[in-house]
Amino acid sequence: MARTTNHGDGWRGMNETTKITQEFLDTSQYLEQSILQYEQVYGTDFVSPGGADTARRLIGRLGLESGARVLDVGCGLGGSAFLMAREFDLRVDGVDLSKNMLAIARRKLDAYGLADRVSLRWGDCLELEGGADYDAAYSRDVFLHIHDKARLFAVLYASLRPGGKLLFTDYCCGARPWADEFAAYVEDRAYCLHEIDEYARLIAAAGFESVEGEDATAGFVETLMADLERIEGLQLNPDERDRLRRSWQQKLERARTGDHRWGLFAARKPGSSSGQRNRGITDD
Ligand SMILES: C[S@@+](CC[C@H](N)C(=O)[O-])C[C@H]1O[C@@H](n2cnc3c(N)ncnc32)[C@H](O)[C@@H]1O
Repeated sequence: MARTTNHGDGWRGMNETTKITQEFLDTSQYLEQSILQYEQVYGTDFVSPGGADTARRLIGRLGLESGARVLDVGCGLGGSAFLMAREFDLRVDGVDLSKNMLAIARRKLDAYGLADRVSLRWGDCLELEGGADYDAAYSRDVFLHIHDKARLFAVLYASLRPGGKLLFTDYCCGARPWADEFAAYVEDRAYCLHEIDEYARLIAAAGFESVEGEDATAGFVETLMADLERIEGLQLNPDERDRLRRSWQQKLERARTGDHRWGLFAARKPGSSSGQRNRGITDD
């Protein structure tokens, strides 16, 4: 199983950058209250576009055999990992850097009784160690937080068996220059975004083959519009509802101007592997 470098609670040598990133995440975007509000919008156990429906569709596209092993990078509240175990009979190791996120995820794991098939570990995915154990590395809207993409894809490559699959979605961007509002949003969140083609090249540069990068922004816009409707029906006080509504309207505006894109990426590590069928992201 993949290990994160461990210092007491899950670390061996937490470096200063990792510590700063964890503190930034847990004191800004992923305060417990914010996580629970995101979850209300995205759906139980999820903090990513489309909630369980999108996750189910993407996990299906991985085409893994029962019992295959998956690394869920930035597992958040565990939604995808729980789905993989319950509906696809997969074995999943999730890793997430937010202590707030993982504390909630661990409570859910206990309540769902899935600990025999799902492990949740606190840590920085850039610090993962371990040897080519996984049939797939899967991630949903996490890598926007990660600036060192070369290291990220090298780590994920090393985590996979020969023939292992990489599948992830992520926030992406259109060509620069961006609108001032979008540039300020990206800076405020400390995001590191790429254009779809540029992202695909970064994946290929790590040694992956059959790299596919799809601009899935149209689907992203549809989920944002569905989220906006859902926000109107949530049990929220008027200020919270206004804030969430405004935040989602801004996401929609950014996507409609073309600055904000949503990408779906798939690739495989060269070689052949048992435990999975050979399918690409365009297969249904
Ligand atoms: C938008 S949330 C998505 C969570 C989950 N994948 C989902 O689909 O609900 C992004 C997640 O990435 C995690 N994350 C950010 N940087 C990370 C890193 N370097 N290592 C592990 N997790 C990270 C955050 O803590 C957060 O839980």
